[in-house]
Amino acid sequence: MEKQRDGFVSSVGAFTATVASAVGLGNIWKFPYLAGVNGGAAFVLTYLLAVALVGLPILVAEHAIGRKMRKDAVGSYAAVVPQEGFWVVIGYAGIVAAFFIMAFYSDVAGWVFSYIYKSLVAALTGTGPLDGKAFESMVRGSGEPLLWQIGVLIFVSFIVVAGVSKGIERATKLTMPVLLGLLLLCDIRALTLPGAFKGVEFLFAPDFSKLSGAVILSALGLAFFKLSLGMGTMTTYGSYMPHSVRIVPNATRVALADTLVSLLAGLAIFPAVFAFGFEPASGPSLLFISIPAVFSKMPLGTLFTVLFFLLSALAATGAMISLIEVPVAWLSGKMNVKRSAAVLITALGILVLGVPATLSLGPWAQVKLFNMVIFDLLDYIQQNLLLPLGGLAIAIVAGWRVVASDLIQELEIAEKGKKCYIYAVYGFIKYISPALIVLVFLNGFGIFSK
Ligand code: PFF
Repeated sequence: MEKQRDGFVSSVGAFTATVASAVGLGNIWKFPYLAGVNGGAAFVLTYLLAVALVGLPILVAEHAIGRKMRKDAVGSYAAVVPQEGFWVVIGYAGIVAAFFIMAFYSDVAGWVFSYIYKSLVAALTGTGPLDGKAFESMVRGSGEPLLWQIGVLIFVSFIVVAGVSKGIERATKLTMPVLLGLLLLCDIRALTLPGAFKGVEFLFAPDFSKLSGAVILSALGLAFFKLSLGMGTMTTYGSYMPHSVRIVPNATRVALADTLVSLLAGLAIFPAVFAFGFEPASGPSLLFISIPAVFSKMPLGTLFTVLFFLLSALAATGAMISLIEVPVAWLSGKMNVKRSAAVLITALGILVLGVPATLSLGPWAQVKLFNMVIFDLLDYIQQNLLLPLGGLAIAIVAGWRVVASDLIQELEIAEKGKKCYIYAVYGFIKYISPALIVLVFLNGFGIFSK
């Protein structure tokens, strides 16, 4: 007999848990840093289009398949098309992606956690705000970032062992609105700095000469990463959803909320970058240099900095919980491993990749493959290959292999009467999203250029 599956207890809970997976370091760290590296507004616009035209339809597809199958990602894709068990590869690729992502994500989360501590110390001792040097010296080391990374993994593991509805829903319902409020405060301060407008321009006035195949692929990959798509996370979350959830409106709200947080983070960071004369293309350090600088121009700034990194750490935790859940749900569901053992195995697996990723920014910086250090390579593979290809496979399964009326029926649950948006989204899942992924992908690898 099947074990009773744990699940989200309400549709509000399903919304907040999904947002908790989506919102994380992707919004406050990755989105701004990629926007900076890729030249600003043209990238941002491409990213927004990718969310609307590809991300949202695939989010819907994943939720529908998960809720219909009521299984983890591997189980869902193994069984979703009878006689075509090979789609299970989506689930396995998702597990690989979860490990790749967690390897660098737990490193960056470690920086965020350390910034809570560092800014607290700065607040108590009255030393100035944390600057670029503080960041560099931490990241280039080995002992310090590793300790924080391991600490983060232990922390997240404990939460995941507590179980789905209890652990995830409770932890995140309260913290998201506070993070939003703090970002708004940060925006107001950043936007009123002298010279701030250049940052707004950078973010919203597109210069299309900045677009290239690689930039567009990166924007598409970010849309997947942001919404936790293409690797079964949202399929697993769909499997926990009650029948009171209307999948399309819920997914739309999730995508909107998530995008709003990214834009608010961008509006806190870029005006400050230009006002203070930082380098927009400075890469992964961008968040850690600009946010303390913004708060330093506010009364009680150091305390706000502490609070900002605290809430960012919680957002990162929500995302990591969902990442760890991918292998854990598989190990404990299909492989019948005890949940606590499944978490332990997963955390150790993450460290196997995560320690080299962390060291690759410091003592192992010489080790390069395809001209990338390990940290960047893992990030590149998940974002530009695994997630878009996973998303393509999911669109093909949902649009072409699952019987159309079955999928539509799943989307109509809890809706009153026929809804034309359901048919529109289905059209995207079937035609537009997969076609765009293929085009962006080929273009990204230069197939169309001479
Ligand atoms: N969406 C998360 C973020 O933007 O921080 C990262 C993420 C979580 C990606 C879960 C993939 C995933 F399955």
